Amino acid sequence: MRQIVENAVSRGILKKIVYSQPRDKSVVRCEAKLFSSGKGVFLQFETFMSDGKAVHENVPEKQAADRAALIAERDFRRVNIITSAGECQIMVSKKGKTTVLNKIKEDLPAPKIPIKAHDGRRKYIIEEGAPCDFLYRLGVCDAEGGVFDKKRAKFRQINRFLEIVRDLFPKKPEGGLYILDLCCGKSYLSFALYYYLHDILGAEVEMIGADLKSDVIAYCSQVAKDCGFDGLKFICCDISEFVPARTPDLVVSLHACDTATDIVLATAVKTGAKNILSSPCCQHEMARQLPREDEELGFILSKPLFRERFAALATDALRLLMLEAEGYRADAVEFIDPEETPKNLLIRAVKGGGASAERALEYEKACKRLGIDPALARFLNK
Ligand SMILES: C[S@@+](CC[C@H](N)C(=O)[O-])C[C@H]1O[C@@H](n2cnc3c(N)ncnc32)[C@H](O)[C@@H]1O
Repeated sequence: MRQIVENAVSRGILKKIVYSQPRDKSVVRCEAKLFSSGKGVFLQFETFMSDGKAVHENVPEKQAADRAALIAERDFRRVNIITSAGECQIMVSKKGKTTVLNKIKEDLPAPKIPIKAHDGRRKYIIEEGAPCDFLYRLGVCDAEGGVFDKKRAKFRQINRFLEIVRDLFPKKPEGGLYILDLCCGKSYLSFALYYYLHDILGAEVEMIGADLKSDVIAYCSQVAKDCGFDGLKFICCDISEFVPARTPDLVVSLHACDTATDIVLATAVKTGAKNILSSPCCQHEMARQLPREDEELGFILSKPLFRERFAALATDALRLLMLEAEGYRADAVEFIDPEETPKNLLIRAVKGGGASAERALEYEKACKRLGIDPALARFLNK
């Protein structure tokens, strides 16, 4: 157990450890979570007692794994280590025999779990209350860095997005970066991305935002100029006609409607983009293509709401499968609290591992079974 906790802490993926089935009847259960304070990072054990009280113990990060293992061996018969890469369950029998069921994935990048500050406030990459020129110019905060109430969700979304980007670029990269934001709209993310990579990490960045709307492009170009973001340019075009100058280090796209997301993914794949972050938007294509009658799936497809949701889910699952077939390690993460927006899914893909004929076959079979011809396959001439 010590090793599992240590790995989860060092990968930054630990959500919590839950101890149950206590040996001592005066104890109900215990939960452990990481927090940060001015003195460093600690694992806090909160033990809930049967008299309703809770006892706290804060253990410095370096000793956390040892302590977590000791508490398991000594006080409880069941432990669940919950991480963003899966869960591990450890059972200890009355005779002391340990059974470990470890489903924590070691080989895939997993979302980092932000460590809360001791005052319960989340630590953001762009801190509230510190002046931030681009957020001020985009109307997210005032000149002192105070976030406007109506823009709070946007502020959280930007920061969450930057945390995901930080997983890909934790430190200044060796060479310059070539980055595309396709269907950039008002480009909050392009600005945030440029700010993080160029101003925080000190990287050399050439970033292009592309969108159909000329007024939005003119506005973004002016803001970039005013911010002194010299490496950030905007062009007005249909992204299906956009030809990247070279292999992008990262292609991002937030809420590109319906099959525009497929154009983004196809452009990224065709140019061998090293990383892709794409948050899909409304999906209509598959809902129209799915059969009206289906012996096995009729119970879903005959109900309009379920049909829509099934189509959206299958579209994104097939997008991941296609990316894997094309040689990417792909997964989907929740981008922001689903209560803030239902459009909270982010497809994350990192090039590596080579094309997979197995995945391609799986894709083909799924499409055949569903009777569909998805845009992504068409755009990739598959
Ligand atoms: C829902 S908005 C999202 C904008 C921005 N990424 C954001 O999240 O704030 C979708 C944007 O995609 C753009 N768009 C849709 N299809 C496009 C295409 N084929 N080429 C370029 N832009 C496109 C629209 O003009 C619009 O600005």
